[in-house]
Amino acid sequence: MTADRLTNSNIRVGIDAMGFSGAQCYINMVDLATARGVDPAKFIVGIGQKQMSVATPCEDTVSMAALAGRKALEAFDIDPSEIGTLIIGTETGIDHSKPATAYVHELLGLPSNCRQFETKHACYGATAALTSAADWISSGRARGRKALIIASDIARYGINTPGEPTQGAGAVAMVVSENPRLFELDMQCVGDYSSQVMDFWRPLYSKYAFADGHYSIECYLEALAHSLKDAQSVSEDLSLFKPENLAACFYHVPFVKMARKAHTCFLEQHIDRKLDLKDITDKEMFTKSYGELTAPWLSINAQVGNIYTGSLFLSMIDFVSQNNRELENRNISIFSYGSGCGASFMLARVVEGAMDYAQALDPRADLEKRRKLTIEEYEKIVALAEDIDMNDGLAPDPARWSLKGNIFYLGTHNHSRQYGPQSMRGQLQRAG
Ligand code: CAA
Repeated sequence: MTADRLTNSNIRVGIDAMGFSGAQCYINMVDLATARGVDPAKFIVGIGQKQMSVATPCEDTVSMAALAGRKALEAFDIDPSEIGTLIIGTETGIDHSKPATAYVHELLGLPSNCRQFETKHACYGATAALTSAADWISSGRARGRKALIIASDIARYGINTPGEPTQGAGAVAMVVSENPRLFELDMQCVGDYSSQVMDFWRPLYSKYAFADGHYSIECYLEALAHSLKDAQSVSEDLSLFKPENLAACFYHVPFVKMARKAHTCFLEQHIDRKLDLKDITDKEMFTKSYGELTAPWLSINAQVGNIYTGSLFLSMIDFVSQNNRELENRNISIFSYGSGCGASFMLARVVEGAMDYAQALDPRADLEKRRKLTIEEYEKIVALAEDIDMNDGLAPDPARWSLKGNIFYLGTHNHSRQYGPQSMRGQLQRAG
């Protein structure tokens, strides 16, 4: 994509604002490895994770989504009245029928003529929402209004499973609009791929995901190759996809090492053969490309863990927060994968002035404030999660976990979920 090509299209649409809000507690991966009798190098180097955010009983898909949405609106000075569509992409739905957006719509004070709904497709849900919002705006139906897209998830595989070191919890909010301030999407060459595979799924009766881990990695890479080909097939200029013409390559990041595997696959599509990392030339080429285009934007993912549909966009927040002005006006690639599976590959441009928001977007100070849990506390939280959604069951107490802020999940009363500040916990007496 070139600036000229974008000028020729009628409407410039893309990501105008972003905000991240994650769970307020975390565990250290060395502690987890030690508790599980695993060499810590497996989690730190082999998987690529340093820490993992853990959602306490008071933090759920809705509370994290509302906090991320509020951050995006406030940091980019967007009035709630400007929002005409609210979509939450999530694998961690809180109701079989009622969308999480109904609560978030109220918590953020969005207008009553704002449509709202939830999208589900494992880690692809928010990407489906993002492209739908871009289409809504491009079609003219938005009438000048903006869309608020929020990716919000809690990744749960369970204790002592292979997936345990690839959990996490958090939400990324994005405002999609005309004349965006951060990333302009090239909606003319989005490539898609779908295939029915059992690589990762979560049946209605389970709080924990089932995964065929190694197979899921194969499915992810297969989907990357196919969706890239599809995007190239509709592009007028194949040079746009060349790694040397890109400022950054973003991938879905279930764990940091996966982005490395993805970038290897991306390079292999260009050279049309397997990379041999024992060969000095191949190794140098890979190390330079990965080191420039992907690795620098994975430091926040390494601290937060897998936030499913938001993890790709968390990497994009990391990119802006690093304030590299020389990368403005350059093109980037974006690959989104959702198990099951569905995937899209697309290009976008870093808007001039995007780095003005580096500080506003940087979540590092908030990550520093997270409370470190012992493995015993983390295991207690996992046990509490079993009963958290029972009617008139647990009434989780934000003070017990030293949580800050004023949007918490307070339990279920008369079959309806309660959200609000700690002071509203009054009528829910049970301790949790
Ligand atoms: N020191 C350094 N590295 C070590 C090591 C040590 N002591 N021991 C092992 N390693 C390396 C291994 O060589 C391996 O590296 P490579 O992949 O580069 O070969 C890595 O650590 C992991 O080791 P294993 O493959 O043996 O680990 P595992 O079998 O226990 O499980 C996993 C790994 C499959 C990713 C598992 O954590 C899992 O099932 N995760 C959930 C599924 C998932 O995340 N899939 C990703 C694709 S699907 C998707 O993206 C959607 C989504 O979000 C879920």
